[in-house]
Amino acid sequence: MATTRTGVRGGIVTGWGISVPDKVVTNDDLSATMDTNDAWIRERTGIRERRIGGTTSQLAIEAGLAALARAGRRPDEIDAVVLATTTPDQIVPGTSATVQDGIGVPGGAFDVNAACSGFVYALAVAHGLLAIGAERLLVIGSETLSRITDWDDRSVAVLVGDGAGAVVLEAVDGPGQLLSWNLGADGSLRHLLMCDHGGYLFMDGKEVFRKAVRVVVDSAEQAIAEAGLTAADVSLLVPHQANLRIISAACQRLGIPEEKAVVVIDRYGNTSSASIPLALVDALETGRLQPGDHVLLTGFGGGMTWASAVLRWGG
Ligand code: UT7
Repeated sequence: MATTRTGVRGGIVTGWGISVPDKVVTNDDLSATMDTNDAWIRERTGIRERRIGGTTSQLAIEAGLAALARAGRRPDEIDAVVLATTTPDQIVPGTSATVQDGIGVPGGAFDVNAACSGFVYALAVAHGLLAIGAERLLVIGSETLSRITDWDDRSVAVLVGDGAGAVVLEAVDGPGQLLSWNLGADGSLRHLLMCDHGGYLFMDGKEVFRKAVRVVVDSAEQAIAEAGLTAADVSLLVPHQANLRIISAACQRLGIPEEKAVVVIDRYGNTSSASIPLALVDALETGRLQPGDHVLLTGFGGGMTWASAVLRWGG
């Protein structure tokens, strides 16, 4: 399904922040404990190192507070915490409740689990809340994939990392930043990427890779078209950071030069729903995103799910 937003109350991002654990785990660190090596991991995935540690709520709180500080907003000015995560601290309560309490937000709090597409799903949901009257929201992607990883399984262990990214989204009269959005899912593929209660993350990497490129390209193309743009109008691509080869293949098929894609997978690995906000904040902090730029966010993951959004930065 793809649709353009027709409401008259939009949103703009007024603050952003991240949090990553201090502990850096390099490829060489991993090859000391399992049958892998730095060259394989770099060539097949683009990952050099990842951060490991913390809890999903702790990272989310730190990222959320950083975003509030950047926006110049107090916690009591926030109407709700929308937390994208697929690695909640507990099954019940939602991790967003811990985040709400930790930050001191007086409003609502709920989790969104759409695996690695979660942040874009959360952003779309948040825009819906703004359209029906919310003034300010904290939208966070936070993950501790390390906690559901079997550290003896090299097929997953070399890929994952922990971290969080957050934005403050504020209501504006008129259309705001979001030009289009596209959400999708195909639950018949849920066996490709899964984790049972108390178990470890399993992934059919080859099959996920094949499907990911197709769904992410289709979703991004729909979002670009719904925004009334072409690939040439995209100033910056902020993709889910699962594999550098997936990002390259998607760029090629979309006709977007790779230099326009933000890449942080080398530093953080795959952080699921945190990867898009980590990359977005990196682009903002390095001056790669200016008012008026068209930024395409696009992700895919377990479910399978996929999601894209086109924003005109600065409203
Ligand atoms: O964010 C959620 C979505 N997740 C993804 O999008 C991940 C998608 N999949 C991938 O990124 C890739 O499929 C992987 C990085 C997981 C694997 O890359 P690949 O190019 O598909 O490798 P492969 O599984 O075909 O394995 C190639 C070879 C095999 O050896 P043989 O059979 O050729 O002798 C594997 O046993 O590499 C071997 N191998 C490894 N070697 C060193 C597999 N894992 C490793 C490893 N270190 N960690």
